[in-house]
Amino acid sequence: MPVSGRPFAVVTGAGRGIGRALVDELYSRGYTVCGVVRNEADIPTLCAVNKEHVFAVRCDVAEASTEANLHAFIGSLTNRVDLLVNNAGFGASGYGIDGLIYSELDNVLAVHCYGPIRCVRACLPFLRKSQRGVIVNMSSRFGSLEWVATGTVPHTEATYPYRIGKAALNMLTSCLAVELQSESIRVLSVDPGKVRTRFGPQDADTEPHEAARAIIDLVEKRSETATFIHASGEKVPW
Ligand SMILES: NC(=O)c1ccc[n+]([C@@H]2O[C@H](COP(=O)([O-])OP(=O)(O)OC[C@H]3O[C@@H](n4cnc5c(N)ncnc54)[C@H](OP(=O)(O)O)[C@@H]3O)[C@@H](O)[C@H]2O)c1
Repeated sequence: MPVSGRPFAVVTGAGRGIGRALVDELYSRGYTVCGVVRNEADIPTLCAVNKEHVFAVRCDVAEASTEANLHAFIGSLTNRVDLLVNNAGFGASGYGIDGLIYSELDNVLAVHCYGPIRCVRACLPFLRKSQRGVIVNMSSRFGSLEWVATGTVPHTEATYPYRIGKAALNMLTSCLAVELQSESIRVLSVDPGKVRTRFGPQDADTEPHEAARAIIDLVEKRSETATFIHASGEKVPW
């Protein structure tokens, strides 16, 4: 068990973008990190960050086997998880109700809703051993029911599957936060902002490492649960 006294974090979608930046940020803050990657080729690159404190496992969070496989891998490393970041995600291509493609809706729900449920169930026995467990669900401003309904976020800029997927993820945040409050496990939905990644928007104004730093500050310096929050610390309406 290589955990020793260090906090232990699990990050999905860790091969690139915000997820990779979160691994670097957490390691630099003294965490041992398990990165979940979909592509086997990303494992050596991630482990090269530090052979003793950065581990990687191949799981496609859309696959049912992820729950058991991730649980077993984490159990081989530690008996305690302090932070789970459900970060893996992607968008869809068909815009508007006429453009919606059912297979894309299935895929987005598999990754943004079923995937986080699987990862939470894989990690929960270990999170229960932490004195200060935190689950971060990486959401988006497009998951805000209020902002979509009022047009605060333009409906032309995100697909139905993406908005529905992130709204479902936000409901998971609320359900978990209420159920796990008595066990002192905090659960947050976080909007990372407009981040320069392969997925990020053209007007992105934030580097992945800046988003990662702000998100881990939220984890370490704040105490709220059942909150939808921007990386800057401002609350986002559900
Ligand atoms: N960038 C932004 O401005 C922005 C804004 C709001 C919300 N977000 C959210 O932030 C999160 C990270 O996005 P990003 O901008 O960093 O995008 P990114 O650079 O495209 O990275 C997405 C990551 O998710 C992984 N992934 C996708 N499907 C997966 C699956 N089924 N199983 C395991 N991993 C999977 C990808 O793995 P592969 O490398 O194998 O494809 C990749 O590592 C997403 O949830 C996104 O919705 C981003």
